[in-house]
Parts: sequence; structure tokens; C-alpha cells
Amino acid sequence: MSRGRLITLEGGEGAGKSTLLAGLHAHLEAHGVALVLPLPREPGGTDLGEAVRAMLLDHAFRGMSPEAELLLMFAARAELVRKVIVPALAAGRWVLCDRFTDASYAYQGGGRGQPAARIRELERWAALDLQPDLTFLLDLSVEEGRARRSGRGDADRIESEEDAFFERVRAAYRARVAEEPQRFRVLDARAPAAAVLDAACAALRPLLEDRGA
Ligand code: TMP
Repeated sequence: MSRGRLITLEGGEGAGKSTLLAGLHAHLEAHGVALVLPLPREPGGTDLGEAVRAMLLDHAFRGMSPEAELLLMFAARAELVRKVIVPALAAGRWVLCDRFTDASYAYQGGGRGQPAARIRELERWAALDLQPDLTFLLDLSVEEGRARRSGRGDADRIESEEDAFFERVRAAYRARVAEEPQRFRVLDARAPAAAVLDAACAALRPLLEDRGA
């Protein structure tokens, strides 16, 4: 049996991740791909991870140190990788994950200033150095992301950061793309949702053909 694929979706706040995830979910199922359901999200995706997520997003922990934040992100990830992702890939199933380690490089690295070497070290042992087969980055200016989000409910602890934080996050995501252009597919989040989905599906085609779908 061939190994499954790990596909991850990244992007700033308000970039349309949920809409694209729903579209990709439907597309992959239509091609007969056995997906892990519910689609995992990060931080989260396991009982422990969801509990850690609640802490990470809670305003009660407004003063959380960047070090604690980074370790909590990887605590959730360590659990998800071992309990969900690795067993699924070994069984030939595909994992479509709402964020993964690139988010730690972007938010804790770019946003909070944690050194990339420190994140890389955690990635190696806590996340078993697991790398996605394909990563979509929904790219949107901070200004537009904020405008789109303004109609939604209360912002969580991380969403409440200032624009300069999200500018650093966006720059760090783009730096990741420059380092590994072959893994990433950057999608312009200003395009209509159907066009974004079409571009993403086109990028999936080689992976689907590879399995004879
Ligand atoms: P979400 O809003 O996309 O569900 O993600 C939850 C928040 O967690 C979002 O603000 C991004 C942030 N995050 C990090 O800061 N580092 C990480 O490693 C991950 C996975 C998410």
C-alpha cells in the first residue's frame, strides 16, 4: 500500500482558509481519496491538542511568554503527529491539515521573534521532522485580512495582535516559500473563491495522478 499524503493549508487571518478547506475536502473525496476526518486543525486535532488550543487562544493568558507559546504549539503538534498523522499516512490515508509547522515559523518565529533554529530543533524531535507533500499559502495583505475579519465575532488572543505582528507573520510565510518553492503553492486570496479552489485543485493533480486516480 502506498503512503498517504500530507497536505497543509496556511494563511493569515481572514484569508478564506475555511472555504478553501471545504472545497479541497470535496474535491479529494470526489477523487476517491481516503481522508482523515474530521479534517485536523492546528493547534488541535486531538483531545490534548484541543485543550492546548483553548489555552493558547484564551485572553486570560494575554501575557504568555513567547517560549511557552512555542512549546504549547509543539505540544499539540507532537500529539497530532503521533496519534493521527503518522498512523494515517502509514495506512495510505491522506491528511488535509488546517495549518502545520510553517505556522510556527510564521507566528512564533516571525511574529514573536523566536529563532528559526530553535523552531527547527523542535520540528525535528517533537514533530518527527514530518514535512508536508504540498502546502497551500493563502496570501492576503494584513489590511484586507483585517477588513474581512471585522464582521466576525470576538477576536481571540492571537487575532488581537497588532498589524505589525501580522506583517511579520506574512513576511515569514513568504520567506518559507522562498526557501522551499517546490513544496508551496501560493494562492492570491483576493481572487474569487472558485478561482482559488481551481488553482489549488490544479496543484493537486500530480499527486492524484501519482496514485492512479
Ligand atoms: P486558526 O485561527 O487558523 O484556527 O489558528 C489558530 C491560531 O493559532 C492562529 O492565530 C494562528 C495560530 N498558530 C500559531 O501561532 N502557531 C502555530 O504553530 C499554529 C499551528 C497556529
